[in-house]
Amino acid sequence: MSPKITVLETIAACRDYRAALGQTPIAFVPTMGALHEGHASLVRAARRIVGDRGHVIASVFVNPTQFGPNEDYSKYPRTLEADLALLQAATANAVFTPTPAVMYPPTDTAAGKEEARMTIDPGPLANVLEGAIRPGHFRGVCTVVTKLLNIVTPTKLVMGQKDYQQNAVLRQMIHDLNIPTEHVMEPTVREPDGLAMSSRNRYLSPDERSRAVVLYEALTWAAAEFAAGNRVPETLQAGMKQRIETRGLAVQYALPAHADTLIPWPRQIDGPCVLLIAAQLGKTRLIDNMVLKSA
Ligand code: PAJ
Repeated sequence: MSPKITVLETIAACRDYRAALGQTPIAFVPTMGALHEGHASLVRAARRIVGDRGHVIASVFVNPTQFGPNEDYSKYPRTLEADLALLQAATANAVFTPTPAVMYPPTDTAAGKEEARMTIDPGPLANVLEGAIRPGHFRGVCTVVTKLLNIVTPTKLVMGQKDYQQNAVLRQMIHDLNIPTEHVMEPTVREPDGLAMSSRNRYLSPDERSRAVVLYEALTWAAAEFAAGNRVPETLQAGMKQRIETRGLAVQYALPAHADTLIPWPRQIDGPCVLLIAAQLGKTRLIDNMVLKSA
């Protein structure tokens, strides 16, 4: 039996716990809960990174500031008991589980108004793709992750490739703001048919679930085209879009972009490339991506 996971509910409890660890290497896995095997794999990767003597700390916090007004904040699944069991089984030592009032106390701001609150401006990388469709999303992500990093002060921040742009934005934030934590990106965990695991997959009806796999099929099709020598963004884009639309999903974007800058490749792919997809399936929004290996 692994020792019981320590649940830290307040910032003070988290800071005290952290202070007692001194120089121990700490890997941190932030989440919004509704945990699945993708999150578990991050916790196990965190354990591999810091070793048995290191410490793995997770957080479970559905961050209101990264949801748009018409998004699923209030109905985002909250499954804390199951989350704690999963984190413990994946060998996390502790989990920070603040409430919104802990993270954003109502009278916290100088003017006592929500608009007066300090936030992180993520810059141009956050204005494209997800950022263009979800205005303010990355501002909320950057702000909450900065707060969490300041509270936990980990050695490593372990994140999943599933949210590719989130990694790019946070990597740049850590670099540009000189945050003394190293960012690590771990591979996407998929269902047996290829669908990327996501807390939002539980919104899908059985029919939608069977069609959702088309994102992965479109990515593998384009990756095979690329491997066969196709370097034309337009044909890869059109082929992915057409495949996804055939299954009745509404494509928001499906394109090859520069793997670091996220700028869509214009005429010819001649550098590091990631395929990025976002599509709406009924009421559920799905994203996925695949990094292309150049020969
Ligand atoms: P959440 O969506 O819960 O994801 C937490 C972490 O799990 C992220 O790093 C995400 O990329 C990773 N993840 C999700 N599905 C995955 C999968 N199938 N395979 C591998 N990793 C996966 O991302 C967030 O929460 C929030 O924006 C957060 C960073 C916690 C800030 O609120």
